[in-house]
Amino acid sequence: MASVYSEKVMDHFANPRNVGEIKDADGVGEVGNAVCGDIMKMYIKVKDGKIEDVKFKTFGCGSAIATSSMATELIKGKPIEEALQLTNKAVVEALDGLPAHKLHCSVLAEQAIKAALADYYTRQGIDPKPLIGDIPETCEGCCSH
Ligand code: FES
Repeated sequence: MASVYSEKVMDHFANPRNVGEIKDADGVGEVGNAVCGDIMKMYIKVKDGKIEDVKFKTFGCGSAIATSSMATELIKGKPIEEALQLTNKAVVEALDGLPAHKLHCSVLAEQAIKAALADYYTRQGIDPKPLIGDIPETCEGCCSH
């Protein structure tokens, strides 16, 4: 039976990059989807305005693991302003697509990065709201399949 998942999704699911946690992280973000119960935690280390290191832990489905893995690869070494621009759409494109009913899992990855960046800015004494906006706690309705 042909897989509904691209080779890249299967690769990042089977061999996720940047799994773990950063003990002395500069920003930590945790987001969860109340409907499916999946949780994602993202740690970032910032140096000279760049994402020096990033790690994640996901208690969630295969698509959540694959998208968080790809999301960390996309922001690693990048300026924080660039990391802020990362959308779930860009993550999905980098993975060569996801089935429609799994797109919400990629939203969790985008939210986790934004939450980690918001925590970073807060620790620097900068209000993250104007930069990041509201980070919804859940993506209600997107798990209604
Ligand atoms: Fe909940 Fe994938 S993140 S099913």
